Amino acid sequence: MQIIKSRKELKRFILQHKKSKNTIGFAPTMGALHPGHISLYEVARTENDVVVSSIFVNPTQFNNPDDLEKYPRTLENDLQTLETSGFVDAVYLPEIKDLYPNGAVSRQYNFEGIEMEMEGASRPGHFDGVGTVVEELFRQVQPDNAYFGEKDFQQLAIIKKLTEITQLSVKIHGVPTARETDGVAMSSRNKRLTEHGRKTAEIIPNTLHKVQQWFGKLSIPEINQKVKEIFENEPEIRMEYFTIADEQTLRKVEIIQKDHQYRAFLVVVIGDVRLIDNMQLSYN
Ligand code: PAJ
Repeated sequence: MQIIKSRKELKRFILQHKKSKNTIGFAPTMGALHPGHISLYEVARTENDVVVSSIFVNPTQFNNPDDLEKYPRTLENDLQTLETSGFVDAVYLPEIKDLYPNGAVSRQYNFEGIEMEMEGASRPGHFDGVGTVVEELFRQVQPDNAYFGEKDFQQLAIIKKLTEITQLSVKIHGVPTARETDGVAMSSRNKRLTEHGRKTAEIIPNTLHKVQQWFGKLSIPEINQKVKEIFENEPEIRMEYFTIADEQTLRKVEIIQKDHQYRAFLVVVIGDVRLIDNMQLSYN
């Protein structure tokens, strides 16, 4: 696996593969890699000639400086993990100046309202930061295909809109959420939970599964009320939001239409760790 440390070096690598007409698959990350990240490269490997990873903790998507500082940085382990996976040909490790030559500020996008919902409402400016860094990475890596986890479903929707807005010719692929054996979504933040907190986190997938069972049988307000009650009985967890939303618009719904696809989104805080998850809802 090639380790690429500057924009200039990346340019050479990309040019060489473009000349050979190789297709490029790309999945950006912020490091602290776990099997959820690797699942993106596993898919990319089957669909591209060349697979590129990137690791960059992007300052413009953090609205809390403390969060940025606390973000785990485990570069040596990450390189080892990518190498041993066998799925990745090159990893790009840009410095701030490679991505933000004029300073780390976000562009402002109009994502047609998707940026206002859920994570956008909880984290102002977050998606402008994500859009800015991903647009720049796309311009530099020039991927044919790019892979994003459904774990961050709203981010995946934002990136799809980004490619429409910027008219970049990259195909965006969603990859299903990789989960631990107890159903908890894999996340670098899980490591920050206490042993007890980690056990408590099982309530997240368990609640989403209950929602799936209620979906189509109870009304949306009834489901919302039941979820609220689950967390009212859990003093160690704070529910930040629970929303059933239309997969296309990510707008909260109250009444279901049979020809639309819906998803349940849940965000909770355990100790000082904020955990997000979502699940597609099917009629049964
Ligand atoms: P990061 O949180 O490192 O995630 C990188 C990619 O891995 C994202 O597409 C995310 O959805 C995916 N991912 C994380 N956990 C996953 C899981 N359990 N199953 C499947 N995929 C999972 O998301 C970001 O970084 C940043 O916002 C980034 C897009 C890199 C821009 O800075």
